[in-house]
Amino acid sequence: LGNNPKTLSPKYFYDEAGSELFAKICNLEEYYPTRTEIRILSEHSREIAEVIGAGRILIEYGAGSLDKVRILLDALSNLVAFVPIDISHSYLMAAAENLRQTYPDLTIRPVIGDFSQTFKLPELPSPDAPHIAFFPGSTIGNFDPDSAKDFLTSVAKTVGPGGGLLIGVDLQKDVSTLIGAYDDAAGITAQFNKNILMRINRELGGDFNLERFSHKITYDVDSARIEMHLKSLTTQDVNIGGETFHFAKDETIHTENCYKYTLDSFDAIAANAHFKRHGEWMDPQNLFAVLYYVCEN
Ligand code: AVI
Repeated sequence: LGNNPKTLSPKYFYDEAGSELFAKICNLEEYYPTRTEIRILSEHSREIAEVIGAGRILIEYGAGSLDKVRILLDALSNLVAFVPIDISHSYLMAAAENLRQTYPDLTIRPVIGDFSQTFKLPELPSPDAPHIAFFPGSTIGNFDPDSAKDFLTSVAKTVGPGGGLLIGVDLQKDVSTLIGAYDDAAGITAQFNKNILMRINRELGGDFNLERFSHKITYDVDSARIEMHLKSLTTQDVNIGGETFHFAKDETIHTENCYKYTLDSFDAIAANAHFKRHGEWMDPQNLFAVLYYVCEN
């Protein structure tokens, strides 16, 4: 917040309230990515499982509710273990417990942590089995291209040569569909955005007045990204834990970028981390892509 322009990292959206709001976003009519990705995974699960192969260790990054992975768990043969990683402790533990009810024989080893940092895999049966990273939801779009490259490099290190990456990527499309997905009529995305200010108030002793900020969405064509901001409606000072932050009228806090890709532009980012595409599945309107890459060295 002390920077000019002011920014906050989107990873702070996801406390319990934020994770619940995000789950609501995923069910919104305007927010096409979730249902489209689920449809792609469901319709092509056999083919995807065939390309991935049998006897794998599956690692889900930013696991959340663990709904999508069920489609893979049903299709993959002889999975050695499943390792979901998420930053939200209570949310992940509840979701993992839920999963255990359906898959009592599967080894499930949740890891609490920030998957954008390096982390250590827990002890697993058959640790030499090929590792497959699963990163659905187009969360990769929330990384700027340099961080996406660093992140994919760290995934490549985790899965190793011959390991795989199954990733959901949101595709470039008409601007009104994109803006609508981040500025829904019911205002749920606005609540999700403002939840970051509520967290600052609660956890850091801030005095943000949420009524004095509005949710602002723009699309930057050159960088092919949605930008999410919180715009100050007045000139105001905000106090947080003994520090004062001044806002000019219309000044914004940049809270999130959501990059949209083409298959070629995403292949180029993956190639930096030595990932080569071995499979691609899309919906009929080409809104979203599920891509499979293999780590070459
Ligand atoms: C988590 N991530 C992929 C979402 C997105 O679409 O970039 C986060 C989100 N922000 C606003 N709506 C959804």
